[in-house]
Amino acid sequence: MFCRELNRGKCKTYLVACERTRHAAVIDPLRENTARYIAVAAYHGFRLDYAIDTHTHADHRSGTWDLAALTGARIVMERYAPAPHVDVHVTQGDILEVGDLRLKILFTPGHTPDGISVYVEGCLFTGDTLLIGGTGRADFAGGDAGKQYDAITNLMFTLPEDTVVFPAHDYRGNQSSTIGKEKASNPRVAGRSRAEYIKLMNNLGLPLPDKIQESLQSNQSAIEDDSVKFPDLAQLGNVHQLSVTDLRDRIASGRPPLIIDVRELDEYVGELGHLPGSRLIPLKTLPTHAADLEQNKSDEIVIVCRSGVRSATGAAILNGLGFEHVSNLRGGMLEWNDAGLPIER
Ligand SMILES: [Fe+2]
Repeated sequence: MFCRELNRGKCKTYLVACERTRHAAVIDPLRENTARYIAVAAYHGFRLDYAIDTHTHADHRSGTWDLAALTGARIVMERYAPAPHVDVHVTQGDILEVGDLRLKILFTPGHTPDGISVYVEGCLFTGDTLLIGGTGRADFAGGDAGKQYDAITNLMFTLPEDTVVFPAHDYRGNQSSTIGKEKASNPRVAGRSRAEYIKLMNNLGLPLPDKIQESLQSNQSAIEDDSVKFPDLAQLGNVHQLSVTDLRDRIASGRPPLIIDVRELDEYVGELGHLPGSRLIPLKTLPTHAADLEQNKSDEIVIVCRSGVRSATGAAILNGLGFEHVSNLRGGMLEWNDAGLPIER
């Protein structure tokens, strides 16, 4: 197997390839290095089958959309990933074939709800779930230190001790580690119970990453230009949340709210379908369509998307424009479908 880190910096992007068939995958590409990845792949005569994000990144813009547009690589993310335009949604146990290689997906949430790790030929690409001598922070929206501990101890640490660990970040100049080393000496996890780990992670008190405001909501929505001025993260925290059962009951009450779905058209008519009676206004066009909703300014409005993340941005945008009763459907169409509630396609 060909395996190389391509950024030579603190953010790690890996190129893995089958040397016989020359098929390849890129893991966690940075948008600013897209040209480099294509050049390196071409230099080695590789064809990019997949561009994989191990999770929704908060510290850099993802390069998956550019790579997909320029090379035809298919974008891979976990099922809970909020972004549109993901070609392959994966979860625990799924296999991606890249030539003769079999990339096995582990569902490793905690740093984010949509975390995956990729196991192939004795190597484990751990995203930000497990770092070398550390773990990714679990204090962003949707983070969960308990789930992270479970993913590390129940999934990663049951792999052979000599499995090579390649994280998505390293701040100390390390290139790789092994499962055996991390199990024995990772200072966050080794010798700690689940409860002790949660306590530790909830009290790290880290500042937000420098680029979170320009990266996170762009990556969550795949909006890469300046068409949308994203609300401040503090505004997102103030958005009123509604559960799928709350919304089901409101609809059944006979005075249903105005339901605005902010996904893309292909998602609206796709696998997850949409809520009967909902109105499609993709997030990118919401600010310009807000004028059409002027007569609804005092009405109850519920914003819906795939996982409840893009819709939180949508709800914050409408709040900022003076809409008075806007809620976000928590968990989005994923939870609505999981609850077996009615949809249209
Ligand atoms: Fe991350």
